[in-house]
Amino acid sequence: MRELTSDRLRLREWRADDAPFVLDMCSRWEVQRYIGATPRMLTDLDDARATIARWRGHDDGAHGVWSVRRREDDAPLGTLLLIGILASGPDLPLQPSGETEIGWYLHPDAWGRGYATEAADLVLRQGFFDEVIAVTYAQNAASRAVCTRLGMHHLGPTDRYYNMTCELFSTTPPR
Ligand SMILES: CC(C)(COP(=O)(O)OP(=O)(O)OC[C@H]1O[C@@H](n2cnc3c(N)ncnc32)[C@H](O)[C@@H]1OP(=O)(O)O)[C@@H](O)C(=O)NCCC(=O)NCCS
Repeated sequence: MRELTSDRLRLREWRADDAPFVLDMCSRWEVQRYIGATPRMLTDLDDARATIARWRGHDDGAHGVWSVRRREDDAPLGTLLLIGILASGPDLPLQPSGETEIGWYLHPDAWGRGYATEAADLVLRQGFFDEVIAVTYAQNAASRAVCTRLGMHHLGPTDRYYNMTCELFSTTPPR
C-alpha cells in the first residue's frame, strides 16, 4: 500500500506492534459505538492483533486500511479505511456489494483537529475509484460532519449495507 503524507499527517500500513494503540482506541465505547451493526469493543491485545491482521487483509493496492499518524513525531492518531462494503442479505457472512466505502476513527485525544478529514482527503485524492461512499449512524453527527467537510453528497437513509439502516453519503451526486 502506498504511504501518503500531508503537512500534518503520515498514513502508513498497520503493523503488529501497533496493537497497544489499537487496543487503547478500540476498547472505548465512544469510539466503537457507531461502528457496524453490532458495535463491539476490543478486550485484549490478541483481539487488537486480529483486528490489525484483518485491516492488513484489505490491502490490494487500491483498497486499504491506513494507520493515521502525526507527521512531526509519528504519534498514532487513528485509522482510515477504504474498503469494499458488504451488501445487506439474508445469509452470513455478508457478501461484498462491489462498491467502495471510506471510513474513519480516531483516538479521542485526536478529535477536533481536522485529522479525519485531512486523512480521508489524502486517500480520496489517490483517485482509484469513480465513486466512494460512506455510511454513518444517523446520530453520528461527528462522522456526518466529516462527510460534509469532504464535499460528499448526502443521499439519505439506506438499508442496502450491513443489514442495518444508515445514512448514505457519496462522492458523486445523486443520479
Ligand atoms: C468521526 C470522527 C473521526 C470525527 O473526528 P473529528 O475530529 O470531529 O473530525 P475532523 O478530524 O474532521 O476534525 C474536525 C474538527 O476539528 C476542528 N479543527 C481544529 N483544528 C483544525 C484544523 N487545523 N483543520 C481542520 N479542522 C480543525 C474543526 O473545527 C472540527 O471541529 P468541530 O466539529 O467542533 O467543528 C471521530 O468523532 C471519531 O473517531 N468517532 C468515533 C468513531 C466513529 O464514529 N467513526 C465513524 C464511523 S461512521
